[in-house]
Amino acid sequence: MGHSLLCMMGFFLLSTVICGNDEDHTTHSQDADESEYQSKEQTTSAPPEPTVTLQPSWTQIYSGETVTVRCEIQGGEGAQWTYEWRPAKLNTPPKSSEYRISNAAECDSGEYSCRGKRDSSWTKWSDNITLTVLSPPKPTVTLQPSGTQIYSGVIYSGETVTVRCEIQGGEGAQWTYEWSPAKVNTPPTPREYTITNAAESDSGGYSCRGRRGSPWTEWSDITTLTVLSPPKPTVTLQTPWTRIYRGDRVTVRCEIQGGEGAQWTYEWRRGQVNIRETSNEYRINRFNESDGGGYSCRGRRSSSWTEWSDSTSLRVTVPTKPTVTLQPSWTQIYSGETVTVRCEIQGGEGAQWTYEWRPAKLNTTPTSNEHRFTVTESDSGGYSCRGIRDYLVTEWSDIITLTASYKPRPVLTVSPSWLSPGASVTLNCQVEHPSAGWSFYWYKAVPDLSEKSSSYELLPDGSGTAQDSYIIHGQTHTAGYVCRAGRGDPEYHTDHSQPKFVWSADVHSAASLTVSPDRVQHFTSDSVSLTCEGNFTEWRVMTVPPSDPSYYYNCWRMTGSTCNIYTSKSDTGVYWCESGSGEFSSAVNITVQ
Ligand SMILES: *[C@@H]1O[C@H](CO)[C@@H](O)[C@H](O)[C@H]1NC(C)=O
Ligand SMILES: *[C@@H]1O[C@H](CO)[C@@H](O)[C@H](O)[C@H]1NC(C)=O
Ligand SMILES: *[C@@H]1O[C@H](CO)[C@@H](O)[C@H](O)[C@H]1NC(C)=O
Ligand SMILES: *[C@@H]1O[C@H](CO)[C@@H](O)[C@H](O)[C@H]1NC(C)=O
Repeated sequence: MGHSLLCMMGFFLLSTVICGNDEDHTTHSQDADESEYQSKEQTTSAPPEPTVTLQPSWTQIYSGETVTVRCEIQGGEGAQWTYEWRPAKLNTPPKSSEYRISNAAECDSGEYSCRGKRDSSWTKWSDNITLTVLSPPKPTVTLQPSGTQIYSGVIYSGETVTVRCEIQGGEGAQWTYEWSPAKVNTPPTPREYTITNAAESDSGGYSCRGRRGSPWTEWSDITTLTVLSPPKPTVTLQTPWTRIYRGDRVTVRCEIQGGEGAQWTYEWRRGQVNIRETSNEYRINRFNESDGGGYSCRGRRSSSWTEWSDSTSLRVTVPTKPTVTLQPSWTQIYSGETVTVRCEIQGGEGAQWTYEWRPAKLNTTPTSNEHRFTVTESDSGGYSCRGIRDYLVTEWSDIITLTASYKPRPVLTVSPSWLSPGASVTLNCQVEHPSAGWSFYWYKAVPDLSEKSSSYELLPDGSGTAQDSYIIHGQTHTAGYVCRAGRGDPEYHTDHSQPKFVWSADVHSAASLTVSPDRVQHFTSDSVSLTCEGNFTEWRVMTVPPSDPSYYYNCWRMTGSTCNIYTSKSDTGVYWCESGSGEFSSAVNITVQ
């Protein structure tokens, strides 16, 4: 256009105006034909007015571009004008109607106006036109995914993205663009470039530059596009337990690794059946059998779907009836023993059950599946429990019965009753309700005359034997024995048994009992004296009546070391002496007829 205008105006002289230290860059042209032209009509009509125009008409020019300023005098066509310019630097002769500023510099910015002279009279000055020369802007490359928000330059293959070259302040002009990588430069090189069905090979750095006059802008910074293959989602179960019971509230979540920040749409299916759910979570308020199956999901954030996740299988676990166990598991519990009752739900591990107990006195801590207590007789009875979780209540367990008894007293038997040389003695300790878990303690009785009883001395290796019998070798004189039993942790002990004896008939031992008259058979109303002999100062005579071998008595008619009996049938029994220093004498079996 500039060129055709120059042609219309005939020919031009070129001169230069210096802008700052720049090299010559402004030319002006002037009509060389100075012929005077006057129009009467024009002198009588309105005075001609000058206008400054810019070609191209952009008021913002980038340095290096070319712009032409022209003084046009409206109504003055055909006349021979002389021009004057502001700024005055344009007035270096010859004064031209038109200046071409090629390779514009920032110092060319300013207000431009002109006036014309004809017949020695000047027109008025034109309005100012503002020319702004800027350094060219730096373009930027933007990435615009279709529909959804891009996530830090990352899209998934198959998606669509538009790469656009933005030149700030360059609107309205006809720009030409150049792209890097060059594959985008298919002519006419566009401002934006849409990559449909992106592939991983579209990943990379994009930059652009533009021009609308002669020079290019500088290259934009590189904007990186990353095309990833879409991630595979996973379905996760959002419950703290892995088992699902009927009635549970269950949430499954579709997780897309690395897909955070993007706006996804989800699709769900159970087996091959689609579920009406488009969010990343699928909730089932009361899970039942018909909700069971393999759940999978996939996501979409523009046009392309991720692949389907692997399927996560959900199904109803049928809760088993709980079981109550008693620890220790003895059927007979004695008062004073410590027991633990425990409620067990098979397959209920990991779930947050609370427990309900019968009897209700155990429900003080409802979440506890076990109770430990020291048994009294009032704890006898049936124990059962059930589990509760959300809406779910299991059946009651079978009842386990706890029978608490009084502290037992074991019964000791000693065999044989009479010592024979070389034979061993076997002790046997029987607990009233024999049940598992007992260990046994074996003692020797030591007579204690001041206490009118005996003290007990543990036999060698007689502490806590698993066997309920104990064998003694080489016993040569009368001895008394006691046992008791213990079990549990802390150990619970029975009472001591009644003492039992093995008797020696050997009258030549260190201590002996002699009978006068010297026979074993006596008749009622006989006067019989029993005398303790040996190197001891204090004695008592003891007897065990055959009618009740669990009792034994001491003679209450002692004179010195002699007991005098006026016999009756009830005096039948085995007699022996016990010394004040803990010795037993030989024994005699007396029958009264
Ligand atoms: C035109 O611009 C010049 C230089 O900046 C200024 O001195 C003058 O006042 C302006 N004229 C008008 C009419 O704005
Ligand atoms: C499971 O729940 C659904 C929805 O609440 C109900 O329609 C269906 O009958 C239930 N199925 C069973 C077996 O309880
Ligand atoms: C009786 O005991 C005394 C003192 O311990 C002792 O000196 C004496 O030898 C003992 N006699 C018999 C027969 O054992
Ligand atoms: C005592 O003697 C009688 C008669 O001989 C006998 O029946 C009984 O078993 C004996 N008692 C003991 C403990 O040996």
